[in-house]
Amino acid sequence: MELIKVESYSELSEIAADFIIKRIKQNPHLVLGLATGGTPKGTYQQLIQQYKQGNVSFQNVKTINLDEYVGLPTSNPNSYRSYMNENLFNHTDFQLSNIHLPNGNALNMEEECKRYDSLLEEVKGADLQILGIGRNGHIGFNEPGTPFQTKTHIVTLADSTRKANARFFDHIDEVPTHAITMGIQSILSSDEILLLAFGEDKSEALYQLLNGAIHEDFPASALRTHKHVTIVVDSHALSKVFISSN
Ligand code: F6R
Repeated sequence: MELIKVESYSELSEIAADFIIKRIKQNPHLVLGLATGGTPKGTYQQLIQQYKQGNVSFQNVKTINLDEYVGLPTSNPNSYRSYMNENLFNHTDFQLSNIHLPNGNALNMEEECKRYDSLLEEVKGADLQILGIGRNGHIGFNEPGTPFQTKTHIVTLADSTRKANARFFDHIDEVPTHAITMGIQSILSSDEILLLAFGEDKSEALYQLLNGAIHEDFPASALRTHKHVTIVVDSHALSKVFISSN
């Protein structure tokens, strides 16, 4: 795993956006795996800015998002479809037909998991997958205890994840209890992974990721088995890693 250390959130966002744009320039038909949450918002703003300045086109890029809440209408501002529209798609030239998210409102969620897996197989996984990391080590919505060989599946969200995400809702009771997520195996099938982590809040997770055991109790540890992972991270998120190595 390669670490790129940054000093600020804006630096993290610029470096991540440049990294993505470089890959798109190398392959305009890139299959780009996308994440939601607070961390990549600045990266998406940078992508929008670079697009508006004429430095990149997303016309032929195919996107596959990691996850979506179950039972939240797509029109709800907290659905990940709305998030992606608001934070990236509506401001760029991504083509609707190239955009893919799991459908959290499918009548048959088992079928929806199979549909998403078929799509992932068709594109042979992401060329570049963007990831955030939960404080409990979740990636996508793969909570602790998820077997590494899991494909797309329905999860019951951990209380800590619902609490962390409650900041986007009016009340914690509005945070859905379930989500549909790419599995860890689906994530590992990407050619390359770019993980973004920022702030003190993530310091324990980064410590576990870099120094802990590779175990299902800490889902992100599966990334240590992947051959091409880059982590863009600030000094606060790395604070425990430095303490341990001193
Ligand atoms: C989002 C996702 C999650 C987040 C993680 C960190 O699609 O799959 O794994 O990446 O919860 O979220 P933030 O960035 O809000 O700290």
